[in-house]
Amino acid sequence: MADVIIIGAGGHARVVADIVLRQGDRVLGFLDDSPTATGAYGIDLLGPVDDYKKYPHARFLIGIGSAAVRRKLAARLEGVTWHTAIHPAATVSRLGVTVGEGTVVMAGAVVSPGARIGAHCILNTGSIVEHDNTIGNYVHISVGARTAGTVTIGDGTWVGIGATVSNGLTVCGDCMIGAGAVVVKNIDAPGTYVGVPARRMT
Ligand SMILES: CC(C)(COP(=O)(O)OP(=O)(O)OC[C@H]1O[C@@H](n2cnc3c(N)ncnc32)[C@H](O)[C@@H]1OP(=O)(O)O)[C@@H](O)C(=O)NCCC(=O)NCCS
Repeated sequence: MADVIIIGAGGHARVVADIVLRQGDRVLGFLDDSPTATGAYGIDLLGPVDDYKKYPHARFLIGIGSAAVRRKLAARLEGVTWHTAIHPAATVSRLGVTVGEGTVVMAGAVVSPGARIGAHCILNTGSIVEHDNTIGNYVHISVGARTAGTVTIGDGTWVGIGATVSNGLTVCGDCMIGAGAVVVKNIDAPGTYVGVPARRMT
């Protein structure tokens, strides 16, 4: 049984805590720099993020939705042992799937054979990552979003709620794919893309 500390204490962090508990591991508490942060559901707020140094034997997970913040925190806590959290009700193939450190796979998510998932990603509730995808680091596949077979998603990209990326496509890093968008062509410039078919917004 691992002792896990969640960085962040907001709603997303609480979902992450729930997954850790469902995996049968222990949540020692939350670390958060916000003066208004609190514990929740009987899980304590242990202190600010720098208190991570007090827990050399713990494993850590970042429970924050923003890829930019996850990236900064991963650099700030360099050297810690990252936990990987997979909800027991997620369906993660055992055939050629890799899931990077610090990644969280939520309830109902499906990861199909040959998918390679990077570090510190969020595969949110009910998302689908189909076969042979290559998902970079700090990627967020939102609630109900799906990437068809052999898709590549670059580091830091956020695929919004209910969005779809069609098969064989590449979306570069640092993109926002808006809620409900359908990507039907490769995206090779960072930016925000919305609509059906997805077009650049900014
Ligand atoms: C794409 C997005 C980031 C844009 O946010 P924003 O920059 O604040 O944009 P605004 O809300 O000011 O909207 C600007 C325009 O784009 C349109 N727009 C915004 N999001 C859109 C979307 N997903 N699809 C189509 N049009 C969209 C708005 O209707 C608005 O159009 P108008 O100028 O004609 O009124 C945001 O709307 C979005 O889709 N976020 C995803 C949230 C999400 O997936 N959460 C998941 C949690 S698990």
